[in-house]
Amino acid sequence: MGTLLDTSAIGGCNPEAAICTRGVTRDFQAGQQTITVLHGIDLDIRAGEMTFLVGESGSGKTTLISIMCGILWPTLGEVKVFGTDIYDLGDSELVEFRLANIGFIFQQYNLIPSIDAASNAAVPLIAQGMERHEARTRAVAMLEKLNIGDQANKLPSQLSGGQQQRVAIARALVHEPRLVVCDEPTAALDASSGRRVMDLLREVAVAENRACIIVTHDNRIFDLADRILVLEDGRITHDGREMPEGH
Ligand SMILES: Nc1ncnc2c1ncn2[C@@H]1O[C@H](COP(=O)(O)OP(=O)(O)OP(=O)(O)O)[C@@H](O)[C@H]1O
Ligand SMILES: [Mg+2]
Repeated sequence: MGTLLDTSAIGGCNPEAAICTRGVTRDFQAGQQTITVLHGIDLDIRAGEMTFLVGESGSGKTTLISIMCGILWPTLGEVKVFGTDIYDLGDSELVEFRLANIGFIFQQYNLIPSIDAASNAAVPLIAQGMERHEARTRAVAMLEKLNIGDQANKLPSQLSGGQQQRVAIARALVHEPRLVVCDEPTAALDASSGRRVMDLLREVAVAENRACIIVTHDNRIFDLADRILVLEDGRITHDGREMPEGH
């Protein structure tokens, strides 16, 4: 973990930045055509803040956050997370880094269908080697914070969309990762459940040395952002505390 203490400013990265991207470009192949979805993104995500990423469908939000948390390789560019150049790590080191430092809430919840809600929420703890009973107890406590403790023994298929979303949120937060990245965490939730999720995200993810990025279209929660980034056709076109006019 020595690299986490790296204070050099390689590639112009601010050593204080929780995430630093430089020149991040991503192409996809569509038949014979190459489409460029991200065009050289340079961003510093600060710790201690809730950063929202907004933009129209297809603008590249999921692609960008997937690259920021080591799930999808950039075509070009570099990404540092807490000072570690994540795409310089070997495959197994990257998996370990992700497990220890990152909680990801997927747009499609990606729950395991054959195990119950508590076991789903306990996955990161089990993967880290925690004893099963303790992992489950902690997972249930997290489900309780999200007001679905009574659903702990149900399979994902027996839960509503909003309940499944909260299980996915519990799984992302249960191991208290330093970086929490959420793709539309409140989309399936009513206003009060959405607020509760945002409160919990703030409690777990907003602290010195921690960072939280939220992709959202949900204008009910825009006022909770510390910083709003707008992505249009793979470029950042707005960076400020408020939403720009016209959105
Ligand atoms: N695996 C892939 N292969 C080819 N094209 C892809 C792939 N993944 C994403 N794309 C394309 O990249 C663009 C950006 O996709 P992305 O999922 O990042 O958008 P988004 O901003 O998250 O949209 P939404 O709000 O609908 O979730 C889209 O045009 C999409 O079709
Ligand atoms: Mg998306």
